[in-house]
Amino acid sequence: MFFPIYRPRRLRRNENLRRMVRETHLRIDDLIFPMFIRPGKGIKEPISSMPGNYRFSIDELVKEVKEVHQLGIPAIILFGIPEKKDEVGSEAYAKDGIIQRAIRAIKDAVPEMIVITDVCLCEYTSHGHCGVIKNGEVDNDTTLKLLAKEAVSHAEAGADMVAPSDMMDGRVKAIREALDGAGFSHIPIMSYAVKYASAFYGPFREAAESAPQFGDRRSYQMDPPNAREAIREAQLDVAEGADIIMVKPALPYLDIIYRVKEAVNRPIAAYNVSGEYAMLKAAIANGWLDEQRVILEALISIKRAGADLILTYFAKDVARWLG
Ligand code: PBG
Repeated sequence: MFFPIYRPRRLRRNENLRRMVRETHLRIDDLIFPMFIRPGKGIKEPISSMPGNYRFSIDELVKEVKEVHQLGIPAIILFGIPEKKDEVGSEAYAKDGIIQRAIRAIKDAVPEMIVITDVCLCEYTSHGHCGVIKNGEVDNDTTLKLLAKEAVSHAEAGADMVAPSDMMDGRVKAIREALDGAGFSHIPIMSYAVKYASAFYGPFREAAESAPQFGDRRSYQMDPPNAREAIREAQLDVAEGADIIMVKPALPYLDIIYRVKEAVNRPIAAYNVSGEYAMLKAAIANGWLDEQRVILEALISIKRAGADLILTYFAKDVARWLG
């Protein structure tokens, strides 16, 4: 296979030829759009570090979900900013919590939309950690009960899928058992199985007001230099009953997406997180990068690495371009 017998350029000569041999495709079907919900009425509040994204009150959220649906995006994932926070994140599992009310409103207006909920305590606790604090540390097993309660209350409100993002050990099993026990054996779990302690979550924490008030998340989220540990995390979650395995962040962890895809036989989701979004948006705003090309290239790289699904704040733009 040497030049001049083989000339790779023969199949790159025009767009139709390139289309025919293209190996990877980005489709609207692959997209999950993250949305932030806050208390109030008539509010669509811009998130400064994530231009083009907003914190919506429930009424405004419903309008936006209709638009997302019209664009053909199959699924959204919801993050809530509660009325009030406390030590144990009570609003996370309250019947009339912000997420529970939002799910009901969405399901009333756009029943076909797949509503995924982020199951975590960090947005709801006064200290901003993803679990309950005991003796100055995040206590794993006490937290499991609350996460299970939160997942069940989301399912009761009408959520189609739950996505635990807290990184407590054993939470997939705890949530699976609680859902099954409450009559929700049909509700899938998309586990944030491989979630790193990443600086790329910065803008999200502003958006969700969920930054830890002391310390950091390194005692529960993964250490960025580790790759083999990612396989263990993914395998554990599969064994505990996860239906979809997520890797997060995406772009700085393409090698991890690839390895996890090889290691476990479950659909793989990748979260193109807030910092990845902010980084590209800033360069685009400065005129340093071409918007459409750079966004599509970034997202196709995530698919090429092995992701089946992408959670991305670019979902609406991409749906417009591909639609
Ligand atoms: C909640 C959660 C976080 C993100 C998703 N769910 C933040 C965190 O772990 O601090 C980050 C998403 C993003 O940056 O876009 N635990």
